[in-house]
Amino acid sequence: MPAELVKVTINGQELQVEKGARLIEVCRENGYAIPSFCYYSDLALQASCRMCLVRIEKMPKLQTSCTITCTDGMVVTTQSEEIEKAQRGMVEFLLANHPLDCPVCDRGGECELQEMVFDWGNLEERFTEKKNYAPEKYLSPIVANDPQRCILCKRCTRVCDEWMGEDAIEAGGRGAHTVIGTYGGWLNCSQCGNCIEVCPTGTLLDATYRHQTRPWELSRTTSTCTFCSDGCQLSVGSRRGEVMRVVARDRYVNGHNGEFLCIKGRFAHPFVNHEERLRTPLVRYKKGGRLVPSTWDEAVRFAAQRLQEVKAAHGGGSIGVVGSPRLTNEANWAMLRFAREVAGTDKYTATEAFSLVPFFENLSAPIATHRDIRRAKTILLIGGEPEELQPLTGRAVRQAVRNDGAKLVIVNSTPIRLKQQAALFVHVRPGSEDAAVLALASPGDADSAARKLGVGADELARASQIISETAGDVVVMFGGELGAEAQAALAGLPASFGEKEGRRFLFHPLPLFNNSVGCHDLGLMSGAMNPLDILDAAGGEVRAMYVAGGFLPAHLEGREEALSRLDFLVVQELFLTETALAADVVFPAASFAEIDGTYTNNGGLVQRVRQSIPPVHQSKPDWAITSLLAQALGTDFGFQMSSSTIFLDIARNVPAYEGLRYPLLKDESKPVQAKHALARGRDSSAALGDLRDAVSSLEETGDKTAGTPPVGHELFKLGVLTGKVPQFHLLAAGNPEPESVLISPLYQITVSPTIRREAAAGD
Ligand code: SF4
Ligand code: SF4
Ligand code: SF4
Ligand code: FES
Repeated sequence: MPAELVKVTINGQELQVEKGARLIEVCRENGYAIPSFCYYSDLALQASCRMCLVRIEKMPKLQTSCTITCTDGMVVTTQSEEIEKAQRGMVEFLLANHPLDCPVCDRGGECELQEMVFDWGNLEERFTEKKNYAPEKYLSPIVANDPQRCILCKRCTRVCDEWMGEDAIEAGGRGAHTVIGTYGGWLNCSQCGNCIEVCPTGTLLDATYRHQTRPWELSRTTSTCTFCSDGCQLSVGSRRGEVMRVVARDRYVNGHNGEFLCIKGRFAHPFVNHEERLRTPLVRYKKGGRLVPSTWDEAVRFAAQRLQEVKAAHGGGSIGVVGSPRLTNEANWAMLRFAREVAGTDKYTATEAFSLVPFFENLSAPIATHRDIRRAKTILLIGGEPEELQPLTGRAVRQAVRNDGAKLVIVNSTPIRLKQQAALFVHVRPGSEDAAVLALASPGDADSAARKLGVGADELARASQIISETAGDVVVMFGGELGAEAQAALAGLPASFGEKEGRRFLFHPLPLFNNSVGCHDLGLMSGAMNPLDILDAAGGEVRAMYVAGGFLPAHLEGREEALSRLDFLVVQELFLTETALAADVVFPAASFAEIDGTYTNNGGLVQRVRQSIPPVHQSKPDWAITSLLAQALGTDFGFQMSSSTIFLDIARNVPAYEGLRYPLLKDESKPVQAKHALARGRDSSAALGDLRDAVSSLEETGDKTAGTPPVGHELFKLGVLTGKVPQFHLLAAGNPEPESVLISPLYQITVSPTIRREAAAGD
């Protein structure tokens, strides 16, 4: 239904706006600047700073435009002597206790308070009393705090509560002595740093970057996070070839995540310039010998010669080619072309935790972006744990429920934290999640499915009822727990519910990696083998392997010897990982901060990765390494050493990317979604039959997990990349409270190798 329009006059200009639109937003959208500190779009109103004052006709005094919604006939003035006098008075008041220490404040140069004072100029300061003083301290290994700079806008406490669902910080004390603090003195939260990001002043600060540079010294590059499948847009700040910090500050980047990032996106970047990065290519000339540094020419020549020998002796099909869901579409496309055109093998795959092929083959409704999730009326989440594995998705779900009353239905064997927001939590046996899909897709099977799940049939009926009754969008999400049959049946779920006016189904898969969806789209997951098969075939059907990135610890578990059975192994990597250590040739690859390319996120958005620093040491982009190797083996891909040419090649060959070009992906505020083919109207009876068979073989035993896992139990796991960041070691070791919060915890606590946790499945 189209929204009702009303007439509003602002500074003499007549406007037609939506009834109920927030006045501060309407003014800003129409070019009338309104100062504000406490207002923050899509957060609960605070209305404490009184900076956003306007005069509204027929109202007795100045009004805060952040609290006013538009009504018909409203006449508004945003600028006048009266208004400016009141606003100047408020700033003077805010500065009464604020130290004038901008030259030593990390926020200096990008502080909203400083900007306002500079913009207005000639600000009076009549308070001569001694200012409050409190020493700078640490709230956690990640969050530093300078209490007297606080203007009590409470953006920090609101994002912590509303975005993160954590409520880890709050205002304490009274009157002029009110400060933002933690419960118990030490922050045991997910350390997302969003409170730092939204703080308009230098009160909450990035403890990992503290006092290292000034903002104006940094070169800024808009890029895409390299950690999870949410694909947050971020600004990489670099200086002289070193990544100094990552932010999502809206003055620099305007992506689908707004100013949100999680701990990994914001703080795990030190792996880029880490001292353990591979410096040169390495070659092992004889089995059992050592990896020795080599030139690029020699390493490429040696690798090409040995791959050629294996191909001549055993055929191209004896070479396995393994891409990675952590690499760009361009890198994976080069690997796929290498497999098909250079090696001549169908044994290609990617080091993915689980395949999405059955889901995409049967997809019958569009993919939901994070904006779609935020506006959904019902969200069905089967398996997964977005708040730990895809935190932006977690935030979108939480806000959809909290801010707009969406109904969340969770089917999980663990009472995950999002359960707090759920209208219905169906607590199932571990490994039985497929049965929930069967019950929803085929109500006639609900009783038998309920037995497998260990729940009452009424709980499943309630889930179906919530979906059936939805007027608006139903977003269906799933994690890696679902088997191939359940993925296929779930992708056809809308047909089971039939058509209903006003209701629309959308899907949001929850793969683990930054380019899991891209890897699928290119066809890399449709090779003859999956990662486990290819490892099992090592030394048998597969005699040589070419791997970009590394196998996951979960792949190598129980297959530790697999790679050593190969005649020849080539790996391109950032670090000497377990996979690289087994290689005969290791090429140093460039990280996301050193390359151009694209990742495709779990909302199907194809987003740019941009080079912010030159390649570290002698590293090269993955696709360039693959092109060099192909060239040495006699094939020229025609990439002309440019990632945009590769993307053009992808767009010409991959239907979902047809017509896409780098210039179309230029503006992160207008993200472009891949066009995934929909299999509407397909007969789902075969898929349901397969699922019925799969579910019938499930055990009716197994204990459900009782407790809600602690915050950070996945986020803080040490992987290849996060393991390079000292703060992650402290967090993985339980975030011990240091002896003094006045000194950096890193100086006080020696990170011992014995406190390291197991490497994560993903990073
Ligand atoms: S770091 Fe994140 S979770 Fe922790 S207090 Fe700040 S906003 Fe809350
Ligand atoms: S710490 Fe920053 S965001 Fe929080 S209330 Fe103070 S000024 Fe506002
Ligand atoms: S939510 Fe995912 S994409 Fe966003 S910052 Fe975190 S790891 Fe990166
Ligand atoms: S922005 Fe309106 S009162 Fe703070």
